[in-house]
Amino acid sequence: MTLGGRMRVNLPGGGAPPLDVAALRRDEFPWMDAGDVVYLNAASTGPLPARAVAAESAFTALRATPHLISFDEQFGVLARSRELIARLIGCEAGDIALAGNTGAGLNLAAWGLPLGAGDVVVIPDLEYPAGVYPWLAAADARGFRLNTVPARNGVIDEDALIAALGAPGVKVLSLSWVGFVTGAVSDLARLGDACRARGVWLIVDAIQGVGAADLDLRRTPVDLLACGAQKWLLGPWGTGFTYVSPGLLETLTVQPVSWMGVRGSDDFSRLLDYDLTWRDSARRFEQVTLGYQDFAGMAASLELLFELGPANVTRHIARCTGALLEGAAERGLAVVTPRARHAGIASVRPADPAATSRRLESAGIVHSLREGTIRLAPHCYTTEAEISTALEQLAR
Ligand SMILES: Cc1ncc(COP(=O)(O)O)c(C=O)c1O
Repeated sequence: MTLGGRMRVNLPGGGAPPLDVAALRRDEFPWMDAGDVVYLNAASTGPLPARAVAAESAFTALRATPHLISFDEQFGVLARSRELIARLIGCEAGDIALAGNTGAGLNLAAWGLPLGAGDVVVIPDLEYPAGVYPWLAAADARGFRLNTVPARNGVIDEDALIAALGAPGVKVLSLSWVGFVTGAVSDLARLGDACRARGVWLIVDAIQGVGAADLDLRRTPVDLLACGAQKWLLGPWGTGFTYVSPGLLETLTVQPVSWMGVRGSDDFSRLLDYDLTWRDSARRFEQVTLGYQDFAGMAASLELLFELGPANVTRHIARCTGALLEGAAERGLAVVTPRARHAGIASVRPADPAATSRRLESAGIVHSLREGTIRLAPHCYTTEAEISTALEQLAR
């Protein structure tokens, strides 16, 4: 394996163009070559590529003189963002509502699905709070019940989740595609099949997956997918999206209601012709006014991922994460992330997590400490040398 910063990386994959990590770092992440920091924290915050900083800054600079920004520029950046996301996850732009974070989509599901007394929502435990609190609050207010399925051997138990779907009243399965602590990737195809066979909606928190692993919703359908762009999509804070499947569009209550969620709202000369006819796309769920400058940045980051090739990026991430997991196991560390089911997160549980975290920090290895695990998260810019450095420090 060659992931060296100075060397060209030849990733496997049937003639796919190689990822030129050295050029990528030089052009988009020049600070990474200063050598004082190893950034392995995309699972927390993905670094902005230089082009995203430039795009966002240019839009902000233009904003000083709002009259010089045309409607086409303003709304075009949102349309472009929806198109890029749709292309990445295999759906139509009309299935995408831009959002400020993951929680927006999960709240839409919790409050907008037709649920009430007697209904049950199934979630696994170890979920990130963004996928728990909306359900807890909505269950309380709306009278449905939340059934939390325990993990097995510290990771999500898909068999138990599927078994739980058979109980009376189950209407929803909601889970993270990739666990934020364990890094375990759930089998969305299998869970989706089980849900559809029982008439259960599948709601997915995809923030730890999209950008780090491949997803094509045409082959792996889900009902609603919520995703922030601030991690694996290398987008600015306050950017993200909610995918709503065409089959769910009319079933979901629009909640909260935004004035641009209705069809007539594009005509600013007739805003007082109130008409509560929803847009016929997922844009009915979009909360305006959005941060146009932030979506300009997000679109630039997505364009970079497309230039590199999303499949090249996910392969590179998988190889880096695999190398971290393998190297940690070889050094006798307790590996939390299942090696056969990982995306971009490599989690290990050292004897003294806080001390290990401090050691990594002083060695400039940017990581997260989550629930007693050290979480490492490489991305397209990660080199083999950086992986070796991280492993050396982990094992000391
Ligand atoms: C699984 C998961 N969901 C959601 C979030 C964040 O949610 P939001 O985008 O709403 O801040 C995180 C991390 O911050 C996460 O790891």
